[in-house]
Amino acid sequence: MRLIRLIANLGYGSQRDVKAMIKAGRVTLADGTVLDDGARAAHHEIQVDGEPLDPAPGLVLMLHKPEDYTCSTSDPGRIVYELLPERFMRRNPVVAPVGRLDRDSSGLLLLTDDGPLSHRITSPKRHVPKTYEVTLARPLNGEEGAIFAAGTLMLRSETTPLAPAELVVTGPQTARITITEGRYHQVKRMFAAVGNHVERLHRAAIGGLSLGDLPEGRWRCLTPDEIALVLGSSGCP
Ligand code: URA
Repeated sequence: MRLIRLIANLGYGSQRDVKAMIKAGRVTLADGTVLDDGARAAHHEIQVDGEPLDPAPGLVLMLHKPEDYTCSTSDPGRIVYELLPERFMRRNPVVAPVGRLDRDSSGLLLLTDDGPLSHRITSPKRHVPKTYEVTLARPLNGEEGAIFAAGTLMLRSETTPLAPAELVVTGPQTARITITEGRYHQVKRMFAAVGNHVERLHRAAIGGLSLGDLPEGRWRCLTPDEIALVLGSSGCP
């Protein structure tokens, strides 16, 4: 791909802007060699204003989403893109959240520009497990685990029961729940169905990938091994 298109697609500006950047000698190799649009260079060798280019397409990153940020590109409130380099919102293909986390939920959010990968992670057929830490308004009564594990719980206005989910009680009003679907407000609605209310919801893991010690509000790119951990070995192609 020509340099202008490559750099414009990474969100550095319009093709016209990038043409001007190249003309001004701002696009170089690490040794300072100025590149023109016809130059052939590997992605990792190219620099803009002395800084390495943003990651190539095929980007997969994890963000520790704080509460009060929306998984959207436009919202009157705060949006998760504010926590990423500004250019990421302008990339082509676009970097988009893999599934959603509610505005008032926190924790592990994946974002990628790889549409087929995003689909594989969120596809109901894959049953990729997602683990959440919940804080409840009322004490657990001890029956929730069996109800969630039964695979018969029907949520209001739905026509098929939920797949079995695993509940680990971690305190009188706290628990860890692992679900393999991604229905609308699923965890909150599950606890509402058993007469409780979720006060705080934090996603700790997707598949075999945990948030680890990534600080709140920070992000980092995933390695190929970590991406494989997300998908696990569900047996689906
Ligand atoms: N379930 C919910 O209710 N909310 C989320 O953000 C994720 C799962």
